[in-house]
Amino acid sequence: MKDLNELNAEFYNTFPYPPPESIHSTPDDPYFVAKFIEQDVGRKVFFDSPTRIWVAGCGTNQALTIALAFPFAQVLGTDVSEKSIESCRRDAEVCRVKNLELRVEDVMGPYLSKEPFDYILCVGVIHHMDSPTAALRRLQARLKLSGVLEVMVYNQFHVAPYSAFQAGLRKLLQTEHSLDFEYEWDMAQRLLGLRGKNLLPDTVNHPHQSSFTFRHFKMMAEEAGLIVLQPRMNQQVPVSWDLQLSDGELAARLNALPDYKRWEIANLLAYDQSPLIWFYTQRSDGPPRIDTAELFARWVNAELEPAKTQLTQFIRGKDGLLTKSPSKVDFPVKPTFKIERTNVSRQFLSTQGFPFYYVR
Ligand SMILES: C[S@@+](CC[C@H](N)C(=O)[O-])C[C@H]1O[C@@H](n2cnc3c(N)ncnc32)[C@H](O)[C@@H]1O
Repeated sequence: MKDLNELNAEFYNTFPYPPPESIHSTPDDPYFVAKFIEQDVGRKVFFDSPTRIWVAGCGTNQALTIALAFPFAQVLGTDVSEKSIESCRRDAEVCRVKNLELRVEDVMGPYLSKEPFDYILCVGVIHHMDSPTAALRRLQARLKLSGVLEVMVYNQFHVAPYSAFQAGLRKLLQTEHSLDFEYEWDMAQRLLGLRGKNLLPDTVNHPHQSSFTFRHFKMMAEEAGLIVLQPRMNQQVPVSWDLQLSDGELAARLNALPDYKRWEIANLLAYDQSPLIWFYTQRSDGPPRIDTAELFARWVNAELEPAKTQLTQFIRGKDGLLTKSPSKVDFPVKPTFKIERTNVSRQFLSTQGFPFYYVR
């Protein structure tokens, strides 16, 4: 019987994740992205060089995206899937990135450099591993005291239907003990009438996935010596952890609660509409955590400075290859509505695609 690592490698060699990014880009201002992360957690994260970033379980794109987004840092991308690393390496060569090292390596492998990292990303990985807690402990141990770990795990309320589908499919095909991923994928598509639809094998026939509520994720992080800082906003699932209740009395009750309680409640009440469990964390022996109330006060009271840069873009052609675009583009595109900070939180703005103001 293969161990889970081998199964993960085989699965992601069969179906590298995600499909190739159509555009990669790099900002003229090398600290453009870093400044937002520091603003999101309310403190300095990236200190003088050499800044080290690890993308653990990087898949096909993410390590390159990060190397381009943090041109001042040394980036390491690791993954158990050789195919994913190969594909990332090909794109990285075209983009001529000099700050990226790629290795086929298990998060739990013994051979990773002992140098600590300023920033680690582990997005959508540990829920596929034997022990997500042990994986978090490993990541925690590689983090500088001032470092930040960005981690995403499946939200239990999002994946319940897919976990059930996967179990049912394997029982029907009797493939529980002899996983043949391509055969299962084929059958899954027949079963769901999916052909042409945009569901990925990751969703319908992954060999192993666990999932979490916010509360369980927080407990697991704490067991691994981490504390949860703030949500990592993203536009893929544009929902905020600041649940907006229209009833004044209930909203007041909710808003009087500390962050973790509010987020636990938001996860339960919004259920399958709650956000991805995607958070910034840090070592529990690191600097003091800044809570949302403090971040919000800074945001409301501060002078804001529009964040602006230009992007150099690498665009994928029909041949599947990236080419450097001859002209740069302005970024971000101007917001189309006036921002009233008193009633709109930064979290909400971020989910709308406008995280693009720096607090001075
Ligand atoms: C869903 S993909 C996410 C890829 C990438 N993080 C992203 O967000 O685009 C999960 C990735 O984790 C990798 N993986 C799974 N178990 C791993 C392990 N023990 N060590 C390193 N990578 C692992 C898989 O090969 C796969 O590429």
